Amino acid sequence: MKINHIYKGDCTTIMKNEIEPQSIPLIFADPPYNLSGTSLNLANNTTGGAFYKVNEKWDTFDYNDYLDFTEKWISACKHVLHPGGSLYVSCTQHSVAEIIFTAKKIGLKLNNIITWYKVNAMPNITKRTFTHSTEFVCWFVKSKNWIFNYDAVKRFNPNKTKDGQNKQLRDFLDFIELPIVQGKERIRGECGRALHPTQKPEKLLELIILASSDENDIVLDPFFGTGTTGYVARKLKRKWIGIEKNAEYIELAKQRLKVKKELVNV
Ligand SMILES: C[S@@+](CC[C@H](N)C(=O)[O-])C[C@H]1O[C@@H](n2cnc3c(N)ncnc32)[C@H](O)[C@@H]1O
Repeated sequence: MKINHIYKGDCTTIMKNEIEPQSIPLIFADPPYNLSGTSLNLANNTTGGAFYKVNEKWDTFDYNDYLDFTEKWISACKHVLHPGGSLYVSCTQHSVAEIIFTAKKIGLKLNNIITWYKVNAMPNITKRTFTHSTEFVCWFVKSKNWIFNYDAVKRFNPNKTKDGQNKQLRDFLDFIELPIVQGKERIRGECGRALHPTQKPEKLLELIILASSDENDIVLDPFFGTGTTGYVARKLKRKWIGIEKNAEYIELAKQRLKVKKELVNV
């Protein structure tokens, strides 16, 4: 299999055919949430730039097809995961039940659900529910030998003990740049519009990669998008493998991984 490489195609097929079984210590997966709807947006929002509801073909499934798709790619992840490996899956309340049920059904154990609070979440337009302001990352393991770098992740907790020491990190994260990655980190076209609708924050990937891998380990992302996982893995001196089926997103990821090459290790 190729390291520090983006495979083009369907992730289930590629994991089965190209990736060595039981070889990957850490997988981060940011799959379609099956959330796409109308192209509702809030162009004049003043608290963090325009909001656009995700409206993508790759994010649109019939419910039973979504269950089938979910079982296939999580099974493929299990197939390539090292016996001591970890699988982190991002989701919202719309898909968390399906993700957890499927992963447990195929024999993975749920270690934590990390909740992140999006202080710049999309405003409540209908006013018929509590305002959605969280996303989740579910952490699954294959056996009891998982990696957890307890001390390395303490620095993500802004609170300190009375004598100034870092405190243990809880499964609740308060990231101000979410849900829309903003500023220089956001990959935009010439018109200023984001080029990928669901680019994940680098800080989230830093936390996951530091927590559940060691230097030189391979981090695989089956839904690579703009390559956030590869970019952060390289910065943290890990190897990476990306899988993405959309050629335009692959181009973005390639540029991103090349442009900032002062961060080395490829
Ligand atoms: C939620 S986005 C991931 C965004 C990424 N985390 C980032 O920071 O840019 C999901 C990505 O998976 C891709 N995708 C959807 N279905 C796929 C499949 N079956 N195999 C590989 N990639 C797929 C989509 O094109 C999309 O870019």
